[in-house]
Amino acid sequence: MRKGLPKKGLSKEEIIQRLNEYCRDDADPFSGKLFTIAFEPGVEELRAVAFEVLKMFAFKNMLDFTEFPSMIRMEKDLIDIASSLVHGDEQVTGTFTFGGTESVFLAVKAARDRFILSRGMITIPEIVMPVTGHPCYDKAAEYMGLKVKRVRVDEESLTADPDAINEAITENTAMIVGSTPNWPFGTIDPIKDLAEIALDKNIWMHVDACVGGFVLPFMKKLGENIPEFDFRIEGVCSISMDPHKYAYTPIGASIVLFRKKFYKMFSQYANIRWPGYPIVNPAVLSSRSEALLAAAWAILHFLGEEGYMELAKKLVSARNKIVKGLKEIGYKIMGEPSVIAAFTSDELNLFTLCDEMAKKGWLFLPQKGIANMNIPPSVHLTITPIHDDLSDLMISDLKVCTEAVKKMPPREAEGLLEMFGTIFSMLVPGEMDLATLGKILSDMERMVNVYGERILKILGLEKGFPKEMGMIYQLLASLPPEIAELLTNYVVIEIFSRGI
Ligand SMILES: Cc1ncc(COP(=O)(O)O)c(C=O)c1O
Repeated sequence: MRKGLPKKGLSKEEIIQRLNEYCRDDADPFSGKLFTIAFEPGVEELRAVAFEVLKMFAFKNMLDFTEFPSMIRMEKDLIDIASSLVHGDEQVTGTFTFGGTESVFLAVKAARDRFILSRGMITIPEIVMPVTGHPCYDKAAEYMGLKVKRVRVDEESLTADPDAINEAITENTAMIVGSTPNWPFGTIDPIKDLAEIALDKNIWMHVDACVGGFVLPFMKKLGENIPEFDFRIEGVCSISMDPHKYAYTPIGASIVLFRKKFYKMFSQYANIRWPGYPIVNPAVLSSRSEALLAAAWAILHFLGEEGYMELAKKLVSARNKIVKGLKEIGYKIMGEPSVIAAFTSDELNLFTLCDEMAKKGWLFLPQKGIANMNIPPSVHLTITPIHDDLSDLMISDLKVCTEAVKKMPPREAEGLLEMFGTIFSMLVPGEMDLATLGKILSDMERMVNVYGERILKILGLEKGFPKEMGMIYQLLASLPPEIAELLTNYVVIEIFSRGI
């Protein structure tokens, strides 16, 4: 039965108690045991500053910046700081958003509109990017009517291959994307080469520095080998960079920078056609709390250049220790790691390895790879400054888990695969055109009614998400992606609607 509102309101104490109960299965983002999803510097005072500022601004709405001009001032400061890190000149401008995905949406909209206006909407505009690019580009493309071409990367370095990118470009290409670094492997694309192609062909070049924007400049100062990726390169039109990643601000903070104000015009939305107030939205959302912008402002000013240099030192030290440890155990490192390192193994089931590490409290992220591009399954590690103190412990646990997994018999995923194979037997992987997908979708509702509960049970999801997800990841890796996407969407809707 659905819960309604409580008849009588709860006290503050009751509320905290109830919410603490809801948090019972949450990971601790400050623990340093997470090697994905959390960007933890290990600086406790920083949190106190953020919490105080979140309180100050939680109920102020950025929708009406005429009423809350503090928002304009704080955003200007953040754009200036971000711009100075990536060598923007006085023309560079930008927008504060609630996340990398939203920043990317704005960049994609700007690139698309510029393309349409300059060439006429003859066809569907395309984004060309290395296969390692983040899915938020596919998402933006799906929302805004573009198409993404994912291009193979150099197999050794796992960075964009400029020749392959060049070959994929057609007269419909509206945007080229390179990542500094990409999420799966932490390798940095050769932005100079990509921007040269973009400039030559008059295509929008976006640099995805969501991960690296606030940390690579400091690592470069420490003497790390970081290739140039910013506005000093002529063809670069926009850069996204996220304070909520390596600037360590509360979640919900990103920035997209545009080379000039005119480019930003394409990203913004205005509407003066209805009987209500004039709308001018610099970002995707309309009403937005000012709290996250203020918290980002606060943390950047709290740490300052010296703070970020100190944290970069710790981060590099943690990464070096971890990479050394991984090599000693016998793992192969994927390309050249930056702040993210990924490793693979020919002999071990990496999905099982992640589960074994989860039992010891460590959160690793298994990745399926792409067989037809010679990218093997791997494990992703987001390394943060707090790991400097924890890397020895992590590596020693990893040694133990590696030995344990070596001795385990192969896991029985076959039963599951057989069942899904039967359900989806009408499909020929690789031949999933729109008509086939349409058929799957129309059969989906019936299949879900018949098999839904069983699917959840077999996957061990009927009580919510388990800590050990290896089996599920492995299953998803072995299904055609279109089917895996339908399945994950179903499972997530089901679990969310049960609230478990
Ligand atoms: C390279 C890259 N770009 C974009 C994004 C999207 O960022 P967000 O999760 O903040 O929307 C991510 C997220 O990890 C990323 O790694």
